[in-house]
Amino acid sequence: MILTFGSINADFIVPVPKLPQPGETVLGGSYELLPGGKGANQALAARRAGADVILAGAVGRDSFAGIALASLRNDGVDTRLVHDLELPTGCAMIMVSRAGENLIAVAPGANMGVRCDWVPEDLLDPKTILIAQLEVPPYETQALIRRVRRRGGRCVLNLAPALPIDSALLPEIDLLVANESEAAMMSTDPIGTAGRLRQGLVVTRGAAGASAFLSDGSRLDFPALAIDPVDTTGAGDTFVGVLAAALDLGASLEAALRRASAAAGLACLARGAQTAMPGAAAIDAAMAHLPPG
Ligand code: RIB
Repeated sequence: MILTFGSINADFIVPVPKLPQPGETVLGGSYELLPGGKGANQALAARRAGADVILAGAVGRDSFAGIALASLRNDGVDTRLVHDLELPTGCAMIMVSRAGENLIAVAPGANMGVRCDWVPEDLLDPKTILIAQLEVPPYETQALIRRVRRRGGRCVLNLAPALPIDSALLPEIDLLVANESEAAMMSTDPIGTAGRLRQGLVVTRGAAGASAFLSDGSRLDFPALAIDPVDTTGAGDTFVGVLAAALDLGASLEAALRRASAAAGLACLARGAQTAMPGAAAIDAAMAHLPPG
């Protein structure tokens, strides 16, 4: 079973011809209001890839809450650990350029009220895979990682958004997943970082694929799908969710990473984070088009 501990947002998405510079206004197309948040996105990606998923998080008592939770509930993510708080639902302002690149600012709202003690002890056992990110209070995430490890479960931490984490936590983390800029913010020595983790550090590089630096000093490289991106929002979240789902369903790390890479490419083919996330059959089909590693 996958336990996701993280953020839930409503995403305002504005298509723009190009991303604005500081101080610049660009005229965009019609906005869309879609479900998002790194925690919710990763939970949904794992669910669509075939895993049983429970999400712990928070929304506000406002009209955005229903939008933020709609896809999760439709797709069967267990939301019984999602609390509603007297705070606004988290909201992300996202600009997406014609090239599919984005700029994101998040107003966390209720996400900052998420607490580790909402997760009951009986959900944690050696079969638990925790997926966490850094859009909810990092000390709550760190406390949950320690609890999961004490019960023998595995922890996948996505270092997004890039924030410092307690280096004493590294030996408790199985897989740390970061994009290139997040990984560079943490350390210029991926091999050294990997050596402190239980399994390794995975660095995603968009169109250039992904690399896994394993704790035993070895390295695996994975290609990306050749695609023409429409919107890369949520591609990293899809990678993390599908990686964890594949591990939960018994795949080897190498097979799980290849599957995650294919799924992340598919997630770039439509606008929005959750709207574009593939299901297991689409991932299976895309695997045939993934170049050899
Ligand atoms: O990773 C993409 C997500 O980041 C968006 O859905 C947005 O809500 C922000 O959390």
